[in-house]
Amino acid sequence: MSTVLITGANRGLGLEFTRQYAAAGWKVLATCRDPQNATELNTIAGEIQVLPLDVTDYLAIETVSRILRAEKIDLLLNNAGLYGSRAVAFGETDYEDWFDVFRVNTQAPLKMAECFVEQVANSDKKLIVSISSRLGSIGENDEGQQYTYRSTKAALNAINKSMSVDLVGRGITTVVLHPGWAQTDMGGPNAAVDPVESVAGMRSVIDNLTTADTGRNISYDGSSIDW
Ligand SMILES: NC(=O)c1ccc[n+]([C@@H]2O[C@H](COP(=O)([O-])OP(=O)(O)OC[C@H]3O[C@@H](n4cnc5c(N)ncnc54)[C@H](OP(=O)(O)O)[C@@H]3O)[C@@H](O)[C@H]2O)c1
Repeated sequence: MSTVLITGANRGLGLEFTRQYAAAGWKVLATCRDPQNATELNTIAGEIQVLPLDVTDYLAIETVSRILRAEKIDLLLNNAGLYGSRAVAFGETDYEDWFDVFRVNTQAPLKMAECFVEQVANSDKKLIVSISSRLGSIGENDEGQQYTYRSTKAALNAINKSMSVDLVGRGITTVVLHPGWAQTDMGGPNAAVDPVESVAGMRSVIDNLTTADTGRNISYDGSSIDW
C-alpha cells in the first residue's frame, strides 16, 4: 500500500486529493489546521489518519514528523496555500498579508520537505509534489498584477528546483504542479476546472513521474509550464 501525506486536506483540492487517494486504496495522512471542524474530511471512507497541522507552525511540523517517523511516505503533497488579499493591482499590495502568504506558500513546503525527507527516502515512490500555480510563471505573465500570489509561487518554483538538485542523489523526485483554475474557495465558482477533474489529472501526472522528471513545472493536463 502506498502512503500520501497531504497538507490542507480539509477543503478544496486537498480534500479532493484525500477522497481520490483513499478511494484508490492509498493510506492518507491528512493534515489540516482544525480536524474537529473538518466535517467532510472526517466522513471519507478508507485508511485515513487525520492530524492537526498549521503549516506556518514549524515546531508543529517537526512534532508531526517525529510522530510519523516510522511511516514510509511515498508522496509528500504540499497542497496548503493562500491567495492573500484580493487587492492585487500595482499600488494596492498589502505587505503584512504578503508575508503571511509567503510563510504558507513558500517557506512551509521547504520546511515540510526538510522534516519528512527521511520518510520519503524510505518509501518506494520517493515523491515530493508541491502545488504551485501558472500564476507563478514569469515567462507566461502577460497580465501583470497579483504581486503577492505570483511572487510566492515563483519562489516556491525556485525552491522546488533546488530541492530537485539536492535530493536527486537520494532517488527523490520533486516537482511543482499547476492544478488549473479550479472551482474551490480560492478559485471561485466561475473557475474553469472541476476539482474532481483537476485532481484526477494531477494524480495521473504523479502516477507517471520518473526520476527524469525531477525539478519540472507541470500542469494537471501533463503539459510543461514555462518558468
Ligand atoms: N483553485 C485554483 O484555481 C488554484 C490554481 C492554482 C493553484 N492553486 C493552489 O492549489 C492549492 C490548493 O488550493 P485550493 O484551491 O484548494 O484552495 P482553498 O480551497 O482556499 O483551500 C486552501 C487550503 O489550504 C489550507 N491552509 C491555508 N493556510 C494554512 C495553514 N497555515 N496551515 C495549514 N493549512 C492551511 C486551508 O485550510 P483552512 O481551511 O484551515 O483555511 C485549505 O485547506 C494551493 O496551494 C493553491 O495555491 C489553486
